[in-house]
Amino acid sequence: MKTIIIATILMAIFSCSKSGNSGNKDVLVSEPEPAPKVVTDPIAEGQSLIEGSDCLGCHKLDEKMIGPSYKEVAEKYENTPENVEVLADKIIKGSSGVWGDVPMPAHNGLSKENAKFMAQYILSSK
Ligand code: HEC
Repeated sequence: MKTIIIATILMAIFSCSKSGNSGNKDVLVSEPEPAPKVVTDPIAEGQSLIEGSDCLGCHKLDEKMIGPSYKEVAEKYENTPENVEVLADKIIKGSSGVWGDVPMPAHNGLSKENAKFMAQYILSSK
């Protein structure tokens, strides 16, 4: 798609210059950029990301399952930017030895940004 647009623009410029038409010199052609996703509520974003992932197979909000409940996690770690960072890394890389013998698998496909939304939701759940 991009190539077609660029080719069209180049052709337009070329044909203009060939015919000696200099009137269009200062016409600026700019491609519209895709609008960046604006997250206004990181906690709600984190909740919907968690609901769309495999987390709920092992974690519940207020009941221990294979992993600790999110409320337990929120009790253990204060809701600070540093802890959001640390937990986001653990969600991506996995965790072991903190809550018992069962390790949490890594979520390698998860972006840091989304893992941080998840951590923000978890730390605000107590
Ligand atoms: C296969 C089960 C499983 C899945 C799936 C899973 N977890 Fe876990 N999670 C665990 C276990 C077990 C622990 C405890 C690990 C430990 O003791 O270090 C844990 C720990 C955690 C912790 C606390 C880490 C710490 O250092 O205290 C967070 C936060 C967490 N999980 C978030 C998530 C999120 C978010 C997802 C989804 C992207 C997820 N988990 C998916 C099993 C799972």
